[in-house]
Amino acid sequence: MLYLRAVVPPPISWGRRAVFYSARSMRIDIITVLPEMIEGALHTSILKRAQEKGLAQFGLHNLRDYSLDKHRRVDDYPYGGEAGMVLQIEPIDRAISHLKAERDYDEVIFTTPDGEQFTQPIANELSLMQNIIILCGHYKGVDYRVREHLITREISIGDFVLTGGELAAAMIADAVVRLIPGVIGDEQSALSDSFQDGLLAPPVYTRPAEYKGWRVPDVLLSGHERKIQEWRLEQSAERTHRLRPDLTGRR
Ligand code: ADE
Repeated sequence: MLYLRAVVPPPISWGRRAVFYSARSMRIDIITVLPEMIEGALHTSILKRAQEKGLAQFGLHNLRDYSLDKHRRVDDYPYGGEAGMVLQIEPIDRAISHLKAERDYDEVIFTTPDGEQFTQPIANELSLMQNIIILCGHYKGVDYRVREHLITREISIGDFVLTGGELAAAMIADAVVRLIPGVIGDEQSALSDSFQDGLLAPPVYTRPAEYKGWRVPDVLLSGHERKIQEWRLEQSAERTHRLRPDLTGRR
């Protein structure tokens, strides 16, 4: 089921660029204190085109716009006297409530290093959704009541700590939106990504066939389709075994 959007819609024309049934749009609203940190990622290249094609919609919301403080403050000192500042619940609740009054959301995600590890299956799962909110963590964290009462899912992009959740939110948006049918030109290319079938992708080459004496593998120049497919599968299996043995047996 996780792969429904990426796999199931059957092409109605089998031309080089397949046309898919019912293109529909996904909306991602991101709440952050640093919208400028994400803006470029959402308005460049493939994500920009996804919006132009009407396949994705992004809303970037500055948390400070929801502050009731005259200086637009959204953080305060933690109870108990620890170092660092904590994002307050009130502006976050106001931002999320404002968005929820406009539409229903499938998930309200919080980016945090102690969340579940983001993976391709999670990207696939999120790409099936209609509307999601991503709240970017910042500073020392957020008032824990946000996580207890307002958030439906917590996601980490890896076991390291960023200055905030903005880059994580941009990465999640990128990985998810590129899976929406029609966003990348050739549907097959999202399906043949590393991780989609639990294997790393095989090597790819382009012209020239020889450069400084370094040759493209002969099989790729042979025109023999079955042998090429076999070679790709062998390469994927070998690279996965060598570089990411932890993926073996995960399927
Ligand atoms: N915020 C800070 N570090 C993070 C991480 N690794 N993943 C998600 N959000 C984060």
